[in-house]
Amino acid sequence: MRILGIETSCDETAAAVVTAERQILSNLVLSQLDEHRPFGGVVPEIAARSHLDHLDALIARALAEAGLDFGDLDGIAATAGPGLIGGVFVGVMTAKAIAAARKLPFLAINHLEGHALSARLTEDLAFPYLLLLVSGGHCQLLAVEGVGGYRRLGTTVDDAAGEAFDKTAKILGLGYPGGPAVERAAAEGDPGRFRLPRPMLGREGLDFSFSGLKTAVRHAAAELDPGLEGETQAAKDLAAGFQAAVGDVLADRCRRALGRFAADYGRPGPLVVAGGVAANRYLRARLGEVAAEAGAALLAPPPWLCTDNAAMIAWAGVERLRLGPEPGLGDPLDFAPRPRWPLEQLSPALPQAAVAETGRTKP
Ligand code: KG4
Ligand code: ZN
Repeated sequence: MRILGIETSCDETAAAVVTAERQILSNLVLSQLDEHRPFGGVVPEIAARSHLDHLDALIARALAEAGLDFGDLDGIAATAGPGLIGGVFVGVMTAKAIAAARKLPFLAINHLEGHALSARLTEDLAFPYLLLLVSGGHCQLLAVEGVGGYRRLGTTVDDAAGEAFDKTAKILGLGYPGGPAVERAAAEGDPGRFRLPRPMLGREGLDFSFSGLKTAVRHAAAELDPGLEGETQAAKDLAAGFQAAVGDVLADRCRRALGRFAADYGRPGPLVVAGGVAANRYLRARLGEVAAEAGAALLAPPPWLCTDNAAMIAWAGVERLRLGPEPGLGDPLDFAPRPRWPLEQLSPALPQAAVAETGRTKP
């Protein structure tokens, strides 16, 4: 089974071809960074137009690199939400057009499901597993029971983790995109110089909060004399303090979640991280320690599979097409793209028998 994946929900235009045997035949990501940089963030209108300008040629290249023609494909999967709706429309309309012209199944993929299943493309990973999904728009802990079977254990009550990285980078004058810039600066900073809060640390439940931390970074930056100017030592120290605080919060929440997961499913993890923030090496190391303490494995997809890409969308297409509603059957061509689309609203592609096999002992 060979699936073409298309990703256009934010500022990356991406196309990939993936097989059911977990081969990545091609995986192309065209970043729009330079187009958005002057604005310090993603401009939806610019993103949509850029997807439109580049997607057709990118798909042609992805097929050429895979050595395939449209006729060799078994399905077309595209991110159908959540995301910036103009861009999502471009990807979905393109996928539907190819599917209709070639009489292939069309698969409307939830972008978050793409992240959630991404580790199964590169690892031998069975259901159920505990997932920390940390991206620019989301910060959630989920029990993944099967394809389409997501139980949310906790979520952020305000900002997403990636959003906090991006805003911190902006405050510190580290430029855009924020996550990698903060990680680079933090590597040369002293995490102990500034005392920053750890929102939700030790709290009941499994929710997150990051807006107070971001505000504390802003106050600390404002109090500096002389003020912050790009890559100064103060900026590096604040970046390191911020990243350490995020690390403490994620570690605390994941520690609790691993306990809950073990109680619910009768096994220690594994803990899987996904989403752009999971590309951060410091955070991966922190989570590795937490998992090891709980006797659980940490599975983190390679960084290129953590940030937005089309291989994970194609893979989610593989996972859905081989299960169904009926194996080989896609989504209707009138499927409407969705700006908002929570994971828990997804229909399980999993046969009921397989749901039972995940063995959760408590509801
Ligand atoms: O998954 P993703 O590529 O797009 C969304 O679905 O949101 O995640 C993008 C987010 C951005 O906020 C970016 O700053 C963050 O992931 N990110 C990082 C790193 N690389 C990307 N955050 C921390 N450290 C990184 N190395
Ligand atoms: Zn994403």
